[in-house]
Amino acid sequence: MVLLPILSKSSLSTCLRNFIRVTSTIGSIRSRYTRALPSTVLTKILGSNKGKPFGKDVTAGSDLQRTVNFVSPCLREELLCKSSEPVRDCCHKVTIVGAGMVGVCVANSLLFQRITSHIAMVDAFPKKLEGEGMDFIHSSVFIGDPKIEYDTDFCVTSNSKVIVICAGVRPIKGESRLNLVQRNTEILKNIIPLLVNYSPNAVFVVISNPVDILAWVTWKLSGLPVHQVIGSGTNLDSARFRYLIADRLGIAPSSVQGYMIGEHGDSMVPLWSGVSVAGVQFRDIIPNIGLETDDERWYEIAKEVVKLGPTVRCLKGYSSTAIGLSATDIIIAILRNTQAIIPVSTLVQGHHDVCHDMFLSLPCAIGENGITHIIRMHMTEYEKKLFQASANIVYDVQKDLNIKS
Ligand SMILES: NC(=O)c1ccc[n+]([C@@H]2O[C@H](COP(=O)([O-])OP(=O)(O)OC[C@H]3O[C@@H](n4cnc5c(N)ncnc54)[C@H](O)[C@@H]3O)[C@@H](O)[C@H]2O)c1
Repeated sequence: MVLLPILSKSSLSTCLRNFIRVTSTIGSIRSRYTRALPSTVLTKILGSNKGKPFGKDVTAGSDLQRTVNFVSPCLREELLCKSSEPVRDCCHKVTIVGAGMVGVCVANSLLFQRITSHIAMVDAFPKKLEGEGMDFIHSSVFIGDPKIEYDTDFCVTSNSKVIVICAGVRPIKGESRLNLVQRNTEILKNIIPLLVNYSPNAVFVVISNPVDILAWVTWKLSGLPVHQVIGSGTNLDSARFRYLIADRLGIAPSSVQGYMIGEHGDSMVPLWSGVSVAGVQFRDIIPNIGLETDDERWYEIAKEVVKLGPTVRCLKGYSSTAIGLSATDIIIAILRNTQAIIPVSTLVQGHHDVCHDMFLSLPCAIGENGITHIIRMHMTEYEKKLFQASANIVYDVQKDLNIKS
């Protein structure tokens, strides 16, 4: 299955005919060997290779090409003496559903940081998928020889440890993330049952927007235990929050502790009561920090965080790098079973007086089976009210959703 080109029915039969022709003439193949590659999207773009070998005529040309004529087709058997069956799927296999801007950045981040050595990508759009897949396999030599598979057939995802959902449409300019909900839900209805069938023990990390509702939809459609479904939630927003605070202080963003919680969207909540640097609580220095009465106007930072996603999308057309890294943060916690505390979207029913069956972000401990604990945050009454308001806004959209097929 590795490096499988995407074959249409006609190209599959061409491929089979080629195979039969080659094997039946194996005795004389040294003199007659031609490289008849199966047709791919690329061959369709560049023109048909019917009756001709792909690329140049190997019987003519350079010394190198003449040498190819004498390479034994049994080289693999001559070279490799088998001592055991290779393991097909490693235990760190990550599937990425949707080879768009976000999917590619998740893959980049996982591969360049060598977080996993086995990635599978699926997409509904074969040309784009094949192009991205080829680009990745051509990088193999430089990134530690990972196994990279791509196919429109979901069987390529089997036995994944983590499945990342980034298929779907993104908001157009001026559109709220919540508007996408029914369109992206329809996509989930088609793909989630298939994915669960092929990888029943995988942890699902949902990125597609609106992420809180779609993570909840994924959980409902999957029938999995709730801890196995995680929305990427406000991990990215918390990183933006920490960056803006650090920028104002002139220190490293990773040295600021702070969380955005609630919706990954306009109603997200800054937890100013928990912001600290080196254990020093900001609230001990400015008791009204984050409120409109604060003379230093720190509350402007939280307003800025809400605008950053749409601003990036407006400037470059989509957002991808930071969400790719933010998802990787979650995937690392799963693959390495770290129990890292990360603000992600999970079932919040019963937390902070939210009574709805819904997902929102709270800081959670994440390990190899997904979420193991939700942190009981010590919020102020004001923060709690904002969290509940965020829940009501999201639930107002979620309650009208049709998740039945
Ligand atoms: N949670 C976050 O912080 C965050 C950040 C950025 C983007 N997003 C969301 O991620 C999603 C993807 O964004 P993008 O910029 O990569 O979009 P994109 O349009 O570049 O890519 C989406 C991909 O999904 C594929 N797709 C559609 N239907 C499919 C199906 N049924 N099966 C398999 N693949 C399918 C498309 O062919 C496309 O390649 C959007 O919903 C976007 O809003 C979330």
